[in-house]
Amino acid sequence: MSATELTTRKARERAGVPDGQPLLSVQDLTLHYPIRGGIVSRQTGTVRAVDGVSFDVFPGETLGIVGESGCGKSTTGRAIIRLENPTSGAVVFEGRDLAGLNTRELRRVRLDLQMVFQDPYSSLNPQKRIGDLLAEPLLAHRRASRKVAGERVTEMLDRVGLSAQFKGRYPHELSGGQRQRVGIARALMLDPTLLVLDEPVSALDVSIQAQVLNLLRDLQTELGLTYVFISHGLGAVRYISDRIVVMYLGKVMEVATTADLFAGPRHPYTETLLDAYPAPNPHQRGRERIVVEGDVPNAAKPPSGCVFHTRCPFAREKCRTEEPRLTGGAQGGSHAFACHFPLGEAA
Ligand SMILES: Nc1ncnc2c1ncn2[C@@H]1O[C@H](COP(=O)(O)OP(=O)(O)O)[C@@H](O)[C@H]1O
Ligand SMILES: [Mg+2]
Repeated sequence: MSATELTTRKARERAGVPDGQPLLSVQDLTLHYPIRGGIVSRQTGTVRAVDGVSFDVFPGETLGIVGESGCGKSTTGRAIIRLENPTSGAVVFEGRDLAGLNTRELRRVRLDLQMVFQDPYSSLNPQKRIGDLLAEPLLAHRRASRKVAGERVTEMLDRVGLSAQFKGRYPHELSGGQRQRVGIARALMLDPTLLVLDEPVSALDVSIQAQVLNLLRDLQTELGLTYVFISHGLGAVRYISDRIVVMYLGKVMEVATTADLFAGPRHPYTETLLDAYPAPNPHQRGRERIVVEGDVPNAAKPPSGCVFHTRCPFAREKCRTEEPRLTGGAQGGSHAFACHFPLGEAA
């Protein structure tokens, strides 16, 4: 059995998910922020941060979410772990719709869903020592006595590659990479099944990024973890993801396995991301680069039809008027894309 199969089996068993079923299913998720203005704070508009997003995440896999800044990746991540309530749509985790749970059930389920942020510094209380910061989740949820918590902290520090000496240090005494290791350790203290990692390596030097990504991979295999890995950088997403969701202006443009996405993107937007990403040999690909112009449109005034049409070099009349549906079923493992005139098809 390969490492991947082992991870899948371990993750499935831990979460009690039947064979072939997703651990997490995001269904037509929408999260709109009101824009308020004027002295009476009237609602003057709506930011469509996430607008009808669907995808599945299977036990033991890493699903990458990629797209330019502002396309709704973080909002999607926050809605998954219920840091924010969606405007509509469903988040089904371990077979249960989170919206249908009462406060107590939700609190219980949320222990299985943890988030790792870009900058652990802002989520780690600077006044507290690393040992206390790591023991905190266990003690707060009455999962362990002080003594047992202390032992678990030593064990977890070891798992993330830090010595027990770090227990007595303060966050500001650590390097960025060490701090992110602590952030990961803290997220793992309550034995979650799924981690939502929002730009976890984006603030780190490139050499440190690889170390942290390798650590995440090792932890995934050892502990049977499932990841949603969010990044605006295609390099990190490619390195760690089994499948990738490409987002643009709050919508899913394309979903495919990492291999399929890089070998043959179907959505012109994906192609522009690949072009911006330095390939090992840019001439190998034997085709012209797609150049997009202009900035990402305002999410409060998304373009009609296909939201990408204002920047797409292939846009035709239909793209301006009719919104393309995601083909191929984003809920499964197949290659899906939302484009009227996908790449790789005779026009
Ligand atoms: N709390 C908020 N209030 C209003 N608008 C927000 C809020 N958070 C994010 N947005 C807007 O929602 C859109 C998506 O943001 P975000 O999810 O942070 O994107 P990403 O993580 O892909 O950079 C952006 O237009 C952003 O300005
Ligand atoms: Mg973000």
